[in-house]
Amino acid sequence: MSQQILDVAILGSGYGGLGMAAVLKQNGIENFKIFEKADALGGVWRDNIYPGAACDTQSHIYCFSYFPHLRVSRMYAGQEELLGYLNDLASHFNLHPHLSYNAEITQAIWNKEQQLWDLEIQNLGRVQAKVFIPAWGQLNTPVIPSFKGAERFQGQSFHSAAWQYEVNLTDKNVVSIGSAASAVQYIPEVAKQAKQLTIFQRSANWIMPRDQYVFSQAELDEFEHHPAAFFASRQHIHQMREDGFHRTQHGSDMQKEGERLALQHLYDSIPDPILRAKLTPDYEFGCKRILRTDDYYPTLNRDNVSLVTDAIAEMSEHGIVTSAGEYIEADVIIYGTGFASQNFNGKLNIVAQNGESLSQVWADGAEAYLGLSVPQFNNLFLVYGPNTNLNHNSIVTMLEIQHQYILEAVQHILAHDVALAVKPELFEDYNHKIQQQMAHSAFSSDCSSWYKNAAGKVINNWPLDVEAYRQAAQFQASDYYSAHVGMEDQVV
Ligand SMILES: Cc1cc2nc3c(=O)[nH]c(=O)nc-3n(C[C@H](O)[C@H](O)[C@H](O)COP(=O)(O)OP(=O)(O)OC[C@H]3O[C@@H](n4cnc5c(N)ncnc54)[C@H](O)[C@@H]3O)c2cc1C
Ligand SMILES: NC(=O)c1ccc[n+]([C@@H]2O[C@H](COP(=O)([O-])OP(=O)(O)OC[C@H]3O[C@@H](n4cnc5c(N)ncnc54)[C@H](OP(=O)(O)O)[C@@H]3O)[C@@H](O)[C@H]2O)c1
Repeated sequence: MSQQILDVAILGSGYGGLGMAAVLKQNGIENFKIFEKADALGGVWRDNIYPGAACDTQSHIYCFSYFPHLRVSRMYAGQEELLGYLNDLASHFNLHPHLSYNAEITQAIWNKEQQLWDLEIQNLGRVQAKVFIPAWGQLNTPVIPSFKGAERFQGQSFHSAAWQYEVNLTDKNVVSIGSAASAVQYIPEVAKQAKQLTIFQRSANWIMPRDQYVFSQAELDEFEHHPAAFFASRQHIHQMREDGFHRTQHGSDMQKEGERLALQHLYDSIPDPILRAKLTPDYEFGCKRILRTDDYYPTLNRDNVSLVTDAIAEMSEHGIVTSAGEYIEADVIIYGTGFASQNFNGKLNIVAQNGESLSQVWADGAEAYLGLSVPQFNNLFLVYGPNTNLNHNSIVTMLEIQHQYILEAVQHILAHDVALAVKPELFEDYNHKIQQQMAHSAFSSDCSSWYKNAAGKVINNWPLDVEAYRQAAQFQASDYYSAHVGMEDQVV
């Protein structure tokens, strides 16, 4: 790569990175690159190819407003269609020339003299950029927990986000460890093939019906030729999901209603009272992701499917022994055990102007101002950063708000040739306030969830609704210290 200085370096090619790039393009900013560690674009929709993988947020709100997914075939689109949407987005905005694959960013150090980011990139070496925008996602590092004896297991095993289709499940004894959002999607498909499928469930989930809906050709034609109809549907769904935010608020009437609907779904689907008891959550509604599926409960009624709620005591050559002493034969183990969601920057070392690394600053849990910026880290803007995940609405809507904010910050930086660092007092006040707001949220109650760190602090989720975030996330240069390039001291 030449020594050209980029205006913007984007990390990652999921909805976060590609959407950022599309917004830059639409605003005439061309001098940027997207660095992607994998060999293709797509983020979670490239990686999660497990059978049944689909969004559980309606497709009409799981796309950008400026690039509506007008001909999406169903209300809850599958993985291939979502990956297709991202490829179309990249083509439509001519992003391909900006994309570098097999290009993991392994280090980012703020160069004080030049007021630039020095990035170390696999296969490319050093690249310099005025602005660095990590869009690394919260859910792209799969976790396989360690179980006693796992190394002795002689069957095959893989994580849901690294599905191995070459492993034949037909007539096999298959075990799923985990029973949450990913698992409830692949379990109905695996059950159709396996001889016996055993599901290890550590916690029951609150599950609502999904009510899939396939659009007719006439409806798709209508959306394509009269996008206003699509946008009316999108607005209606957005508002409905915003109203659903109250389901995650402690003791609200909406929360009680959500709980009632989920229990009704359970009672309607599972006739066996013992199985029903196992599937009844013992924690507050909304504490972790509320799942949406129509075929998970019916799958549990199949003769070849069993649900085990005893813990895993140890693994052996050909099976798993439970804490109750039961031996469960296993040819294949599928780990639906989630992601390292707390470790936003992964192993990427990012170093600020004062020499501190982001990992040091985040040792007690990641924090950012609006999920976007961190004091001392000049010209660094995070996409889908700390406290910007949702339970009730589309992440893509949150990303679009962040992209607009970052665009305005980038425009300011390029126009004035400055380095921006968010004011620490603003950052402190903001984080204090959102944790106070979190006290009203079910996210902070007692359950195991990827929203909370080991100390029980919610570091992934935004405590309010999307419109409150939109209101809060308005770029103002006065929220930042601004140093002119070439000047050592910071000035307001
Ligand atoms: C199976 C699944 C289903 C989901 N369904 C929904 C849903 O229905 N509704 C919803 O709102 N949200 C859903 N989500 C949440 C989802 O994470 C977001 O909606 C959104 O797709 C996140 O996009 P992203 O670009 O921020 O992150 P990602 O899609 O995770 O993309 C991050 C990219 O960064 C790359 N990368 C990471 N580190 C580096 C590095 N150091 N150098 C270079 N590249 C790097 C990764 O390879 C990846 O391509 C789902 C998540 C999963 C896992
Ligand atoms: N669109 C969709 O429908 C969809 C699909 C997949 C993923 N997602 C997104 O991705 C997120 C992650 O979903 P995920 O299901 O992959 O991960 P997850 O929500 O973190 O669930 C992990 C599952 O593994 C279990 N588990 C973890 N460690 C375990 C251990 N040591 N022993 C036994 N069980 C263990 C968990 O039990 P506990 O519950 O007890 O912790 C849980 O059932 C979701 O919340 C959602 O945001 C969305």
